[in-house]
Amino acid sequence: MTDTDVIARSDPELADIIRREVERQNTTLQLIASENFTSPAVMAAQGSVLTNKYAEGYPGRRYYGGNAVVDEAEELARRRACALFGAEHANVQPHSGANANMAAYLALLQPGDTVLGMRLDQGGHLTHGSPVNFSGRWYRFVAYGVRADTEVLDYDEIADLARRERPRAIVAGATAYPRRIDFGAFGAIAQEVGALLIADAAHIAGLVAGGAHPSPVPHADVMTFTTHKTLRGPRAGAIVCRGEHAGAIDKAVFPGLQGGPLMHVVAAKAVAFAEAARPEFADYASRVVTNAAALADALAAAGFRIVSGGTDNHLILVDLRPFGVTGKVAQDALDSAGITCNKNAIPNDPEKPFVTSGLRLGTAAVTTAGMGPEEMAEIARLIAGVLKAPGDGAVAADTRAVVRELCARFTPYPG
Ligand SMILES: Cc1ncc(COP(=O)(O)O)c(C=O)c1O
Repeated sequence: MTDTDVIARSDPELADIIRREVERQNTTLQLIASENFTSPAVMAAQGSVLTNKYAEGYPGRRYYGGNAVVDEAEELARRRACALFGAEHANVQPHSGANANMAAYLALLQPGDTVLGMRLDQGGHLTHGSPVNFSGRWYRFVAYGVRADTEVLDYDEIADLARRERPRAIVAGATAYPRRIDFGAFGAIAQEVGALLIADAAHIAGLVAGGAHPSPVPHADVMTFTTHKTLRGPRAGAIVCRGEHAGAIDKAVFPGLQGGPLMHVVAAKAVAFAEAARPEFADYASRVVTNAAALADALAAAGFRIVSGGTDNHLILVDLRPFGVTGKVAQDALDSAGITCNKNAIPNDPEKPFVTSGLRLGTAAVTTAGMGPEEMAEIARLIAGVLKAPGDGAVAADTRAVVRELCARFTPYPG
């Protein structure tokens, strides 16, 4: 009996929703750069009885009884996270990437402190100083961006900004930046101006774990990350840091921000960290990057402009203006053709954030499904075909059929 069958016996209505979502994930292309297909083992851990346990506190120092067994799960997760990233300390309790960032700021900053973060409309995340986010309301974020001509980070400009602003911390990391981030350069800048370095590796954690992106850990005071993007674990967050910050980070997560940890998710993180430490995960991470490069090349050949001229990681930012469509129109047209991705601002985008001139595409999920460079070329051809005729129902239907056939050969959750 499958998990869905079990749910169907008590809640057929919800079981049907889950069945339809499995069908959607199995039969349409998942190109959202922050998504992946996690393993059955991760999902089983997340669906385990560990969900029943209250465990406020940390292993050996809990506010509730009966934690001897789940303590072992959290210790395992912490040990595996430290080993995976070569870190001195890990906190595996953050519920998500945003919570992890909040904990890092609570641990290291005072309200009103100056912090450098990447411009939101050039690839930074909401938690890097957006005025509608706690980060922008409680701290004085000053933004750095990409160069207008190359669309890549300019470390000399960032150093000049840091010298002028003398920030308490620098946040290095992005949600939509297709190039390698030079954490060594960020570390040198932070050291020169006496700032702390917070690396937000939400997107690239899996590439770092698999050796496909240089690690921020030797350079950063704290590295926050999500466990569900390229790392392919449960939907959650985590933090690794230098030993000197361990106490402050742990206090910030609990009791600073959260109540009891989600022990079933902590257990699923332990499973994911073990999976990411295997040699086949290094191979996976390298294939994610190869596929992204292949997709970028094929899209460029089809007439799209690729922001920064290419990609070094798992994601691509596509400038749609050569096709005369906005991000919003493109996202909807591709959705109706069975291709799931998200509209995204490109640097210095003339369109509003809800419209945009770009698309963000990622290869983490399709690579997990087993696709390679040949399929990337096919996907680029399909995207170009749809965006040449975004309102054409027949093109959408034909594309959807081809996508279905492609996904039948690369099904993330067969059976
Ligand atoms: C760079 C970065 N930081 C933090 C987050 C927040 O993660 P979550 O959605 O798990 O809160 C994201 C999510 O996309 C991200 O890209």
